[in-house]
Amino acid sequence: MKLILLLLLLCSTWEVSFAMSIHIQFMAVKLRSNSTPFAMETLPGRDSMNCATLCALRPTCFGFSWLQGLCRLFDWLAFSSTDGWQASESCDVYTRIVDSQPQTQLKLESCSQSSTHGSNVCGRAIDGNRNQDYYGDSCAHTENNPFEWWEGQLAAPSFVSYVTIYNRQDCCTNWLKIFSLQVDGVECNRVNLTVPFSVANFSCNAFGRQVRVTNLRT
Ligand SMILES: *[C@@H]1O[C@H](CO)[C@@H](O)[C@H](O)[C@H]1NC(C)=O
Ligand SMILES: *[C@@H]1O[C@H](CO)[C@@H](O)[C@H](O)[C@H]1NC(C)=O
Repeated sequence: MKLILLLLLLCSTWEVSFAMSIHIQFMAVKLRSNSTPFAMETLPGRDSMNCATLCALRPTCFGFSWLQGLCRLFDWLAFSSTDGWQASESCDVYTRIVDSQPQTQLKLESCSQSSTHGSNVCGRAIDGNRNQDYYGDSCAHTENNPFEWWEGQLAAPSFVSYVTIYNRQDCCTNWLKIFSLQVDGVECNRVNLTVPFSVANFSCNAFGRQVRVTNLRT
């Protein structure tokens, strides 16, 4: 979900008048969230559009959460805090859409998968060894049933821009071609490739802690 905000600032002096427009977009990174970044400012606001205006007018404001007539504005630091967010009543969290957010590589700390083929446990996907040969003993592998999945957990809820996947390469590359990417149970990307991949980034843009890939191959 995107909020597009067009701010029209009309200024006039006694002689000249001019208009300037600023185009700022916000996107929903988490709907009905039970936590929110620490607010730098809390202001009354009718709706999310109202909060977007308040945020857009403050250079350090990175986003806001909207809850029952309240806009809670936060900065980038609070949003990306490694200590996580503070608990909150259910609210929607929005951030600015910016081209160059500072990015850090997130680490998946633990994992699980729907089933295990042989000794190819989920942890082999995050063992730091990027060998894509199945027989190199560093690929995770499930059995071959409908809707098999692999899931990794981040240390703290974080904004996931994209997920990099290393596919098996010794054979069977087309086994992982149609899949769903989810963060905390909500789909952030449905991938349906015509050509199999080796290593690729799949965009996600969602906030959460559990990152899951569900194979949709039938
Ligand atoms: C994937 O795309 C093909 C067409 O390219 C379509 O026929 C098929 O239904 C799609 N599968 C899924 C699961 O979306
Ligand atoms: C994924 O994105 C990162 C950051 O933009 C880039 O450095 C990396 O080369 C990309 N990987 C692939 C396989 O495209």
